[in-house]
Amino acid sequence: MTIPVLTIDGPSGAGKGTVSRLLAKQLGWHYLDSGSIYRSLAIAALKESVDLSDVNAIVAVAKAMHLGFECGDELVVKLNGENITAQLGLEQTGNAASIIAVLPEVRAVLLQKQQDFKQLPGLVADGRDMGTVVFPDAPFKVYLTASSEKRAERRYKQLKEKGIDANLTRLTSEIEERDRRDMERTTAPLSMASGALFIDSSELAIDAVIQQILKLIQ
Ligand code: C5P
Repeated sequence: MTIPVLTIDGPSGAGKGTVSRLLAKQLGWHYLDSGSIYRSLAIAALKESVDLSDVNAIVAVAKAMHLGFECGDELVVKLNGENITAQLGLEQTGNAASIIAVLPEVRAVLLQKQQDFKQLPGLVADGRDMGTVVFPDAPFKVYLTASSEKRAERRYKQLKEKGIDANLTRLTSEIEERDRRDMERTTAPLSMASGALFIDSSELAIDAVIQQILKLIQ
């Protein structure tokens, strides 16, 4: 029996996480937050004081790490049994993740971990290369983006709501730097998969985005 997969790729802050989680819930499908795998590896590497450009050391950490995902109202991630959820969303974690994500050897080790999420009754997979590399045969593909200003604004609001101090100008330049790194790397760069539905969420509410994607599936 074929297992349906919906891939949602796009740059940071486009709303992929929120949209993917809601869709997975609505469809009753599994959810893969592939960014959290790269983020968890970055946390593991930083904990072990590994140099982020030391390929062999990062690969060794990737092979040894054990990740547990508990999908309740919020995603809880355990790294070798330790709850690392609070560290996952930090800007420094996302930036470190994008530095190690350029390494092809690291991506190769993480590939199977991601493909293992494909299980019945279906999967919503969120990331940068879900439709191009990890699930190229997926029947439903979406590329979700928004302007860098809008993405930085949203991130700024989220951080403020959590009581975390943030600087909009710095957030915008960090987002642009991360986009550049994710789009210009040689292996599995962020790009729109062929046949993907393109959605610009700059001026769209979450619900409108979800309706467009549900139409694609139905
Ligand atoms: O989506 P998120 O912000 O959690 O991803 C963190 C970083 O992990 C991204 O900036 C990107 O460099 C990397 N990543 C990736 N491929 C994916 C998901 C995330 O390279 N499929």
